[in-house]
Amino acid sequence: MKAVILAGGSGTRLYPVTITVNKHFLPIYNKPMIYYPLSLVMLLGIKDVLFIVNPQDLESFEKLFGNGSHLGINISYKIQEKPNGLAEGLILADEFIGDDNVCYMLGDNVFFGHDLVKIMKDAKNEIESNGGAYVFGYYVKDPERFGIVEFDENGNVKSIEEKPENPKSNYAVVGMYFYDNEAVKIAKQVKPSDRGELEITSVNEEYLKKGRLKVKLLGRGFAWFDAGTHDSFLEAGEFVATIEKKTGLMIGCIEEIAFNNGWISKDQLLKIAQPLRKTDYGKYLMEIAKQER
Ligand code: TTP
Repeated sequence: MKAVILAGGSGTRLYPVTITVNKHFLPIYNKPMIYYPLSLVMLLGIKDVLFIVNPQDLESFEKLFGNGSHLGINISYKIQEKPNGLAEGLILADEFIGDDNVCYMLGDNVFFGHDLVKIMKDAKNEIESNGGAYVFGYYVKDPERFGIVEFDENGNVKSIEEKPENPKSNYAVVGMYFYDNEAVKIAKQVKPSDRGELEITSVNEEYLKKGRLKVKLLGRGFAWFDAGTHDSFLEAGEFVATIEKKTGLMIGCIEEIAFNNGWISKDQLLKIAQPLRKTDYGKYLMEIAKQER
């Protein structure tokens, strides 16, 4: 399985902050927002990652991640000329995905939960064994803002709607989707919505029509933030700070994950930590490097 991380968009809900800065570089506490989705992809063991980026931000992304070799992974980039919607990323990633399946992540989503990686691995295995699409639902108070899933009395998915005026449930589809190879073909057939975007909900709806959509609910043990508004951005940062201070362990620390996965050596980790040594982040990496793996 390959991973595609969407890191374009216009970020208008974070204006005026994001007039000049792409939101994915903004700090969720002590690291750029984009580290969080990348860390999950790495925890899944996926090494081939494509970032979808705006033309003006390519250089900054390359500065931040290069080709990923310092993390033991392969990072490439594809420019999205205009924010034409989440489903366009699948079309742009056509060549990169090739014949593979894909883990499709939104660059501004932050997740935390005890069994999160196990649950993601189950989704990955399900798609690799049986194909289809696998998405996650999360209870929200403001369903008008999201793609919303409706269930029947047996818990089967009945409908899925993008930003409904009259939401049929409070379960939002979060920004982490697992698809088989059909997703690219499906995305290519999607017509722009009333707001002029190629909606990822339309891709999910198509899988639903074919009886190929699985939705798993993330319960109380999970925290999910779509960090694209002022409040959720702040909440995500406060949440990460609280958990990290309490546990002494970092969330979304990509270098630590690369090291734990055996993708980089102790020396490589120390080399990354060196310029960061004045920060708790750098000190944390140095501590990690001391531990036996
Ligand atoms: P959104 O937050 O839905 O859109 P946005 O980033 O343009 O922000 P706003 O609504 O405030 O104007 O996007 C979700 C994620 O997908 C986010 O990480 C940006 C990314 N994205 C793209 O890469 N390409 C796109 O065409 C869109 C719409 C979003």
